[in-house]
This record gives sequence, structure tokens and C-alpha cells, in this order.
Amino acid sequence: MSIACDIPDALTAALRDARHVCVLTGAGVSAESGVPTFREAQEGLWARYRAEDLATPEAFLADPGLIWRWYRWRRDVVAGVEPNPGHYAIAALADLVPRLTLVTQNVDNLHRRAGSRDVIEFHGNLFEDRCFAEGTVHVADEADEIPACPVCGAHLRPGVVWFGEAIPERALDESCAAAADCDLFLSVGTSSLVYPAAGLADLAQRNDAVTVEINPNPTMQAERFDYALAGNSGTVLPELVKLLSP
Ligand code: APR
Repeated sequence: MSIACDIPDALTAALRDARHVCVLTGAGVSAESGVPTFREAQEGLWARYRAEDLATPEAFLADPGLIWRWYRWRRDVVAGVEPNPGHYAIAALADLVPRLTLVTQNVDNLHRRAGSRDVIEFHGNLFEDRCFAEGTVHVADEADEIPACPVCGAHLRPGVVWFGEAIPERALDESCAAAADCDLFLSVGTSSLVYPAAGLADLAQRNDAVTVEINPNPTMQAERFDYALAGNSGTVLPELVKLLSP
């Protein structure tokens, strides 16, 4: 494993020869857009809480209004920012390689806003609501106070995956299939601490894919990757696109 910020020639060759690239992103890919990551000290109104204390079904049951307002705040933060060069580079990469599968842990919708198609939203989407009782998806409600499900009257909840909840089956199946099939796996802007997303790189490695971590702060898992590019995704990813551009 080599820690570099320049793109090693062998990695350039692997990128140029890649048949199927699988990209996993985390909160770090949106950091340059101004969206706080999870494990940075929280800013503003919610500095008093740990995300884990807010992002659970139990927390919602205990105080649905508080949780609803937290997710309204997060929606407002995200709605007020733009995708950054890292998001746009991933969208461009999809047109430069035979096949690209994008799996994101982010719920901020920024990949879609940057033009990525068929994004696998592993942890759901902030801009979708779901009925807390039946799980049915509803268009995001902009109410400040917690709205009721138009069908059964139960609380609506944010359409994201909370701690202790299962990953949507289709997202999990498609992500594992892509990780097992790809020949180049990019892990971008994630601390690789939360499973099952953090296990996708292992799956790719077990299937002989070349694995790459892109993170300005090499993670505790960096040793397990073939390459660790210690840089910001908004800088490194456009470099990869440049290498493939005619
Ligand atoms: N470019 C690339 N990576 C960056 C950048 C950047 N500009 N800025 C920060 N990072 C890295 C940090 O070094 C850190 O390793 O992004 C990572 C963000 O890690 P986390 O905050 O732990 O976010 P993530 O890995 O996405 O969390 C996984 O945990 O809280 C849950 O459901 C939530 O999806 C989330 C999951």
C-alpha cells in the first residue's frame, strides 16, 4: 500500500484498463460543499448532541418533534449548498469508463444534483419522507413541525437509515454485487467505520479488484487498500478524470 497524493503510474494504468469501477462515497465528499461530516465536532444548534443520539428509531419515539427539527435543519443546510468538483468528477468519470457504480452513504442528494445517475443511496435520502408506521415513501414535507402520514395518520419520518436499522435490501444487494464484480474500487471521503458500507472494500479486494482510499486523513483501514491517496476528493477526483480525458 502506498500513501501518495500524486497518482501512481500503476494506478493510472489500472484506471485506464478498468472494465467496471465501483465508487463508495461518504460525508467527506460533501465537506468541500460546506456540509459537516459526521465525526467532526458538530456546529451550531446541535453542538450539544451526538449524531448517534439523534439518528435512531428510539430517539424518534422519545421525541419525534426534536428529531424532525434536526432533519429539517440538515435539509436546510444541504439545500443551501452546491455540489463540488468531487461530485462533478464522479459524474464525469461515469462517461469515461465502460461501467461505473456509485454507492453513497450520504443522504444529501448532491451526487444526483451533480448529474450522477442510478446513485445507490445506501443510507436513504434526506429529501424523502417515510411513514413511521408503514414505511411508505412520501414527497418531502417542508413543515417545521412533524407532519402526519396522509394515508394512516402516523408520524412521517425522514427517509434515511438510522443506526440499528437495516440497509434497504435492494441497495445492499446491488452494492455487494457491484463491489464483487468491479476491477477498481474507490473509497472516497469515508472514515470506513460504519458497516456494512465499510465492508464493501473487502469484498472488492477478495475479488481481486484494485482498491483505493481517497481521504486527506488516511483512515485506520488505509493499510488494507492498494493505494491511499491522501488528498481532498475535490482535488484528487478531477485529477483522475483528467487522466482519462482524451
Ligand atoms: N475529501 C475527502 N475526504 C474528506 C474530506 C475531503 N475534502 N474532508 C474530510 N474527509 C474525510 C474525513 O477525514 C473522514 O475520514 O471524510 C471522512 C468522513 O467520515 P465520517 O464523518 O465518519 O462520515 P462517513 O464515513 O460518511 O460516516 C458513515 O456514519 O454517521 C453515520 O450514517 C452516517 O453515512 C454516515 C456513516
